[in-house]
Amino acid sequence: MNAQELLAHSPVMPVIVVHDTATAVELARTLVAGGIRSLEITLRSPAALDAIRAIGDQVPDALVGVGTVRTPQQLDSALQAGARFGVSPGLTAALAQAARQSGIPFLPGVATVSEAMQAAEWGFAVQKLFPAEAIGGVPLLQAWRGPLPDLAFCPTGGIHAGNAADYLALPNVGCVGGSWLTPAAALAARDWDAIAQLARQACRLAQQDTRTP
Ligand code: 3PG
Repeated sequence: MNAQELLAHSPVMPVIVVHDTATAVELARTLVAGGIRSLEITLRSPAALDAIRAIGDQVPDALVGVGTVRTPQQLDSALQAGARFGVSPGLTAALAQAARQSGIPFLPGVATVSEAMQAAEWGFAVQKLFPAEAIGGVPLLQAWRGPLPDLAFCPTGGIHAGNAADYLALPNVGCVGGSWLTPAAALAARDWDAIAQLARQACRLAQQDTRTP
């Protein structure tokens, strides 16, 4: 799978923070059953690497990746845990080199045209736009389409059920990411019905294809 195929794999990529592996596995099963197949487990909790390993072992239909990767060492640990793609909030030369060598699809975070150009120069034509809403959202992506027509984006940051379809309608957006599918309160309560409903709703949003041919 390459990065473009990763974007096509699931229109919405949940950005997930998990605190124990049992919950992570149940969550992954719930999201996959709801139609969400790419899962970004962020390195924002000590349980993240074990969760990636457990989901990889126990939820074969999930494509599990690692998010919030900031260093080559973190990427290496995630690869050993079985991460099948990577996402970062930004990009350094060292991380770019490690990500290229890893061979997995990797979405580097960018927030400016210069960062997008630098990431493209380093070989990443598919990028994460972060934090999307805070830096201009849909109008920014429309504006970038002119000078950067060859780049594709997964915007994240401030995206939710109310605005995801607007992003997905853009020709330079392949999927959107966000934490709205996995509210901390629902996770803590193990409220799988609520999360399944959010997953199904996200899939329906993505089917509202308003793209012009
Ligand atoms: C990310 O890392 O992509 C963001 O934290 C997700 O942003 P959100 O919580 O606003 O969805």
